[in-house]
Amino acid sequence: MQGKRVLLIVSGGIAAIKIPETIRRIRELGGAVRCVLTRGGEQFVTPLSLSALSEDKVYTDLFSLTDEHEMGHINLSRDADVIMIAPASADLMAKMAAGLAGDLATTVLLATDKPVICAPAMNVRMWEHAATQANVATLKKRGIIFVGPTEGDMACGEFGMGRMAEPADLVAALQTFFAAQPGPLAGRHAVVTSGPTHEPIDPVRYIANRSSGKQGHAIAAALAALGCRTTLVSGPTQLADPAGCDVVRIESARDMLAAVEAALPADIAVCAAAVADWRSADAADKKIKKQAGDDAPALNMVENPDILATLSVAGNKRPALVVGFAAETHDVLDNAHAKRERKGCDWIVANDVSPETGTFAGDDNTVHLITAAGTEDWPRMSKTGVADQLAQRIAQHFEAAE
Ligand code: C5P
Repeated sequence: MQGKRVLLIVSGGIAAIKIPETIRRIRELGGAVRCVLTRGGEQFVTPLSLSALSEDKVYTDLFSLTDEHEMGHINLSRDADVIMIAPASADLMAKMAAGLAGDLATTVLLATDKPVICAPAMNVRMWEHAATQANVATLKKRGIIFVGPTEGDMACGEFGMGRMAEPADLVAALQTFFAAQPGPLAGRHAVVTSGPTHEPIDPVRYIANRSSGKQGHAIAAALAALGCRTTLVSGPTQLADPAGCDVVRIESARDMLAAVEAALPADIAVCAAAVADWRSADAADKKIKKQAGDDAPALNMVENPDILATLSVAGNKRPALVVGFAAETHDVLDNAHAKRERKGCDWIVANDVSPETGTFAGDDNTVHLITAAGTEDWPRMSKTGVADQLAQRIAQHFEAAE
């Protein structure tokens, strides 16, 4: 579900009260949800609760000038990977079958070319009515996927078919749907570096930095979500392994380089790790003891291998697309352009890590993407947002090259 965008159409029915929980679960799995709420739906769940949970605007009105200006009913479906209608009322399904487009939900459904998953909810007699059954048959013939309804007690006091599938079943239907999609990076292999490195001084002490690994891990997850076989080479972090990635854990820069080289060949390399530039030249194999009266020991430092630069000249094993990061505290763009030249990589993602931005260890990032074609300034967004957008750009790059 990571990075997937669900347009959720909520129509009128008591089952709409299960939708906030459904949104929460989709988002927990890394998906994004944008809601369209019908007038009937608004009687059971408020735009405010859906907006709070989806962290997005909720769309209700076909004829809203501001909504049309900002998003537009066509873009609502264009921006989504899938449309889910939950609950789908008998009325909404009848309108869909007939091709009516009198409100925002039905207009989106008539205008879309995206896959649609439909979760009906209604009274048992309405469900069993020949009109509803004919509409369901028509919609199924058009390729609409159905989840539920199920049998059980109804809010109206009756028992039978017509209960909407539970939030867990709705999420499972989405997961099954996405698992069956090949993904634009299927058949490709990416190596992603993430986190800090630890450079030993002696067996108990090391040199490290403040990298959390959040950005690199999110990139690995976003690439895997697009069907890419992804090897994540990570320094020590507190983070869980991202879903669907092969994770190789290392400590030092030299181990990171060895693990990256072992993972080649790859089509894509993304070096998001904050690799220590230097290490102690002569790391002690026993703990350095403090003796009263001794001078502080001097650390003799040597340069670490540069993984990004090494990958960028890796001969016939050079990944087709090598992406580096430039974490800068000043002159962000100038330094990043110079870094792209110096390292020989294809793209640089430049970000401002001056302490006042809170980027290190924080959840947000403001980046600029520097390619041979120029510089793109991306708006401030979450690190997962940056990861999803970067993964999409990588997929587009390979699509364009084919
Ligand atoms: O030179 P600087 O550390 O600023 O460059 C940052 C970029 O280079 C990042 O993509 C980082 O992952 C990569 N890098 C590397 N190996 C190093 C140092 C940096 O891969 N030893």
